[in-house]
Amino acid sequence: MLAAPMAGISTPAYRLLARRFGAAMVYTEMISSHGLAYKNKRTTDLLSFTAAERPLGIQLFGADPEIMYQAARLASAIEPDIIDLNFGCPVKKIVKKKRGSGGFEGYGPGSSIG
Ligand SMILES: Cc1cc2nc3c(=O)[nH]c(=O)nc-3n(C[C@H](O)[C@H](O)[C@H](O)COP(=O)(O)O)c2cc1C
Repeated sequence: MLAAPMAGISTPAYRLLARRFGAAMVYTEMISSHGLAYKNKRTTDLLSFTAAERPLGIQLFGADPEIMYQAARLASAIEPDIIDLNFGCPVKKIVKKKRGSGGFEGYGPGSSIG
């Protein structure tokens, strides 16, 4: 059983509790690749985790393949167990900007992300 990524919920404290109560793996909430690539402090802070939370996945979302690549490189530098790309979020303000499930608009699955 995994603890699914949840925006505003999947904090380090939540993840630690989830692991202690039996989750085999935890995720960060979805993290803006744009915020990471542009070194926004609040976004970068979302990457923090401790060894006790492992195995841990970092979930990124975005619309621009180059920015997502940069963000994935930054995320991989801190060696998460998984980097997950969010192509499922149905929230209107995310989809409107072609992020989350909006990434599929007009394309085959994930085709704009190389
Ligand atoms: C408050 C909330 C925030 C969520 N945030 C994310 C998110 O950041 N990334 C994501 O992939 N899914 C997100 N989801 C979806 C959940 O990860 C999960 O897929 C969904 O709640 C269905 O879970 P279930 O299959 O255990 O019922 C969110 C769900 C909720 C309720």
